[in-house]
Amino acid sequence: MTGNVWRGAGRRLQLQEVGTRDGLQAEPVFVPTEEKIALVDALSDAGLAKIEVTAFVSPQAIPALRDAEQVMRGIRRRPGVVYTCLVPNVRGAERAIAAGAGELNLVMSASDSHNLSNLRMTREQSFAGLAQVAAAARAAGVPVNVSLSCSFGCPMEGDVPATEVLGWCARVVEELGAGGVTLCDTTGMAFPTQVADLTAAFRARWPRTDLTLHFHNTRGLGVANVLAAIDAGADRFDASLGGIGGCPYAPGASGNVCTEEVVHALQLMGYDTGVDLPQLLAAAHRLAGLIGHDVPGQITKAGRRLDLHPRPADFDAIRERALARAAG
Ligand code: COA
Ligand code: ZN
Repeated sequence: MTGNVWRGAGRRLQLQEVGTRDGLQAEPVFVPTEEKIALVDALSDAGLAKIEVTAFVSPQAIPALRDAEQVMRGIRRRPGVVYTCLVPNVRGAERAIAAGAGELNLVMSASDSHNLSNLRMTREQSFAGLAQVAAAARAAGVPVNVSLSCSFGCPMEGDVPATEVLGWCARVVEELGAGGVTLCDTTGMAFPTQVADLTAAFRARWPRTDLTLHFHNTRGLGVANVLAAIDAGADRFDASLGGIGGCPYAPGASGNVCTEEVVHALQLMGYDTGVDLPQLLAAAHRLAGLIGHDVPGQITKAGRRLDLHPRPADFDAIRERALARAAG
């Protein structure tokens, strides 16, 4: 092995699970409340730093998450794990705060077309609403993160200029006082050099604000984008178990970067993710049964890199024949 294999050198990265929110919101089946609770508990035990448990949105908009209160009430809170919830408005914030959310994840889009499709408001209207939500969160002492959808491109508008994305980041950090920003690649339009540039620009301008990268693997660039972001200074990543997920209001959306694939890759490279991969895989193996179909993630099918296979049953005979040929 070359020295480069260990380039992570134990650097700590924060892995944040979004499968129970971004994942289940996209599923046509309603996963029973007790199964959602068991899944969150398994993810807590596996060592994820943060879990986006659910969303306090309109039950008409996202019926799969209509049991948000019951799920938040039922989960076991493991010390050190942040249990965050997506909220679109003040009503959602009040519900999430009452349910004991450890953080509110507010959402708006960097693209006007996607903001209107997803949240039925212009970006300015969303921002004004988020300011009210942030004030409610501050009064309750609950930290705020803002997720900016379509930060790497919009499926309806195309490229969203980096200056525009950073302009919204500035308003979110400096006007709303958000402690964290998530740059979301809602429909998998990001590519590694673009990711590196935006990550580096954000880090240079707001070194003390938590920055999360949220990638979807729609065009197979998910893990490549994670690696590009790490090299540019990022240390927090959203990912979803099995690689499920997708915004129902973004055309062409598909699954998030897969948690077990990201953890597997980062551990091989010497990064410290804090995640117990066997426990994570045990949870991933149960997921297909819960949602009723196969998942995109590859590790549950292929196994880990060094999960080896037996040699063929006639291996000894093959070797004998090969050695005999070599001798004769
Ligand atoms: N929790 C529960 N119910 C809510 C709610 C919330 N946070 N916000 C609104 N509602 C209800 C309203 O009471 C109303 O119900 P009613 O029809 O029974 O009276 C209904 O939802 C519509 O509310 P309205 O204020 O008119 O909003 P809208 O129709 O313009 O929808 C959102 C706006 C943002 C509430 C809605 O589109 C939504 O929740 N979207 C979620 C999108 C999402 O999660 N996308 C994926 C993640 S990015
Ligand atoms: Zn997403």
